Amino acid sequence: MSLTVILPKNEESAALARLLEELLPPGCVWRDPEEGLQGLQGKKLLFAVTLDQGGSNLSCYKMLSLLRQSQGLLSGCTAALVVTALGEMYTKDVARDVVLAANLAGCAFLGRPLVEATGSLRNFQVQAHIHGTDEATAFRMAITELAGRLVRWEGPPPVRRVLALHASVRATSNTLALWELVKAGLPAGVAVEEVGLRNGTVTDCIGCSYTACLHFGERGGCFYGGPMVEEVFPAVRGCDALVMLCANYNDALSANLTAFINRLTALFRQKRFYDKRLYGLIVSGYSGGDIIARQLISGLNMNKSFYLPARFCLLETANDKGSLVKLPGVEERGRAFARHIME
Ligand SMILES: Cc1cc2nc3c(=O)[nH]c(=O)nc-3n(C[C@H](O)[C@H](O)[C@H](O)COP(=O)(O)O)c2cc1C
Repeated sequence: MSLTVILPKNEESAALARLLEELLPPGCVWRDPEEGLQGLQGKKLLFAVTLDQGGSNLSCYKMLSLLRQSQGLLSGCTAALVVTALGEMYTKDVARDVVLAANLAGCAFLGRPLVEATGSLRNFQVQAHIHGTDEATAFRMAITELAGRLVRWEGPPPVRRVLALHASVRATSNTLALWELVKAGLPAGVAVEEVGLRNGTVTDCIGCSYTACLHFGERGGCFYGGPMVEEVFPAVRGCDALVMLCANYNDALSANLTAFINRLTALFRQKRFYDKRLYGLIVSGYSGGDIIARQLISGLNMNKSFYLPARFCLLETANDKGSLVKLPGVEERGRAFARHIME
């Protein structure tokens, strides 16, 4: 299937368009999102965004507004993205915005869906070193690799084993109550495993050198060992779908869940997670669930390579203990999300 390139235009976009024309397979279709995003359902999409000196692209912001208002506009699509900037900042931030907005409009994303290039291309130093080349060539190689994966991608395997990870107290947690509603809707044939990461079960990553991390990872472990290696790594290896149960703690994932993502680096060195789906159940007391969703996207989809199915997260707002189950319609939303996981 050919790719459809969605290019929000600004003064920098023509240069990226020329580069992509050279590197992408023949037969790509080009779309200016200012002319609308109708008729794209079921297609493979490559978002191509260029940021100006102010780290912005006004046409991209209009696209975000359109996507955020249009559930189902990109149903059945699978996508990846390239984001470039004149400066050193905002590429990842804008990429996460585009992924979340498109995802909630029905678009799935490949694992590791982003190639980003900061103005100096310094973010390609490591890749350039690994491939024995310069940064500009490493950038071009990354685009070619990403486009190839997008063209070849045939979808993840069916869900047979679900792993739910949390760091909450069962007796009081609204987030775990939401999970119970979802779990109740999963069919009997699906194996469900739950792992709780509380009370120092996961020591945060120590940041070993690349070679030390690779060394431990190749033996299926990590410098620290412990429950993360003995229990969590095997559970992640065995699952088809990872459901992250996330309470909003100061507009961020809780420390234990963050430590899990950091420690997963050792397993990631050994194995990519392209075939494993990532879901999120996110509960905030007040607001900010979208920030947690973006954190899951950058940590586990962009960095750790999990596949992001369309509408990957369910967000709820409940503060007082026991209040989530009283939210109007929450039981049906939980059941619907379980059906969605099985689609
Ligand atoms: C340490 C801590 C920080 C929190 N920070 C926020 C916050 O920044 N924004 C928010 O909307 N809710 C915040 N909350 C409220 C929780 O998100 C809320 O209680 C929700 O029900 C999920 O938590 P639970 O699963 O532990 O019940 C915070 C709660 C705790 C304990």
